[in-house]
Amino acid sequence: MKLAAVKGFRDIQAGEVLARRAVLEASCKVLENYGFEELELPLLERVELFQRTVGDTSDIVEKEMYTFEDRDGSTLALRPEGTASLVRAYLAAGMARSQPEGRFYYRGPMFRRERPQKGRFRQFSQIGAEMLGRSDPAADAEAVTLVADICEAVGLREYSVELNSLGDDACRPAYRKALAAWGEARIDSLCEDCRSRLQRNPLRLLDCKVESCREAMQGAPMMVDSLCDDCERHHGRVKELLTESGVEVTANPRMVRGLDYYCRTAFEVTAAGLGSQDAVGGGGRYDGLAASLGGPDIAGVGFAFGLERMVLAAAGQEPGAPPVDIVVAPLEERALGVVLGLARRLRRAGKRVEVESPSRSLKAQMKRADRSGAACVLLVGEAELEAGKATLRDMVNKADHAQLIELDGDAEQVIKCIGEAVKGGA
Ligand code: HAM
Repeated sequence: MKLAAVKGFRDIQAGEVLARRAVLEASCKVLENYGFEELELPLLERVELFQRTVGDTSDIVEKEMYTFEDRDGSTLALRPEGTASLVRAYLAAGMARSQPEGRFYYRGPMFRRERPQKGRFRQFSQIGAEMLGRSDPAADAEAVTLVADICEAVGLREYSVELNSLGDDACRPAYRKALAAWGEARIDSLCEDCRSRLQRNPLRLLDCKVESCREAMQGAPMMVDSLCDDCERHHGRVKELLTESGVEVTANPRMVRGLDYYCRTAFEVTAAGLGSQDAVGGGGRYDGLAASLGGPDIAGVGFAFGLERMVLAAAGQEPGAPPVDIVVAPLEERALGVVLGLARRLRRAGKRVEVESPSRSLKAQMKRADRSGAACVLLVGEAELEAGKATLRDMVNKADHAQLIELDGDAEQVIKCIGEAVKGGA
């Protein structure tokens, strides 16, 4: 029997690795321009970290975490997200004092035991960013602006940033009650999941995709209409700042996010071409999170993008493998040592070099060189070894320059010589 990969865990092929790298590099560049520094966080955490922050009633904690009991009896979880870990790390390192307004980003795999489908995996990667110690609306606006700039830099087609406010401890409890009462009155139309969410987490009724639930929730009260004065002011200012700075957002009063730590601002980015899993990223404010971990009362706002979904949404512009600059072709076994030495010098000078095998015929070597897209081939046979000079085949103009390139020349000299011989050079 062939051993298959675990369901929802994928092997990522070379082409996709390149596309992921391009997306990551573009995102990191933008994040660093905004003053964020990267932290690396562990994949394993104590399960309590997520219970206390993401929330006991969230789908993630209730049914999607990979947990196991360690030998010392503690229960560990493969991280399902990065915000809780980042805040834990920030507190543990005493950064609440040393960097009271810290800006951090992180990337890497996350694990959720969801039902796999297009754009949804059990191991997926995120790139996330957190801004700590800022409770002012300008921080929320900056986070949303940063999200839009990352979408642009990555080249997402047709994306949209949706914005909502989820209120805070002053106004959300009353709203939750009102929403639960609305659902209770329509309980017969609700799906199994929504019925069980009614008391535990009624906000999730608003983003259920089941048609009968959507209909039942038509006309339900919305959080944005029930905000207390402070939340109202905060939300108003975030919207104002975004409008004034020219960042387009769409109000979505039904967007509630699936993690419990949010307060006030919440946002989600959706993109075309993703099917039903169309959220490429999401985030919001989480002012109570640090305190729930036993730390000081530190405000925070941040977001995370799903790398797989970003790659899917940016499809059509995948980078190919970096082009080969030079092929070095040893025509004799005897030429191999010299050829390897020459290739090494050229590679160390930054050129992408492919070394052919003397076990292939000249014709086969040239066919492969042609396919590689290299501008030139350096051929080394008996005569070239004798003369100490490689023959240069110009693949662009289809011309040979017999015994032109010094076999023991330094890389710069060789590259210059190739450049002069080949128009549009190596
Ligand atoms: P989240 O919305 O749960 O937020 O996840 C962020 C993104 O991760 C999603 O928009 C999606 O692109 C991707 N993602 C989530 N689950 C999967 C999956 N099973 N397969 C593939 N991609 C997935 C958070 O994780 C928060 N920590 C974001 C945040 C940071 N909020 C504040 N700071």
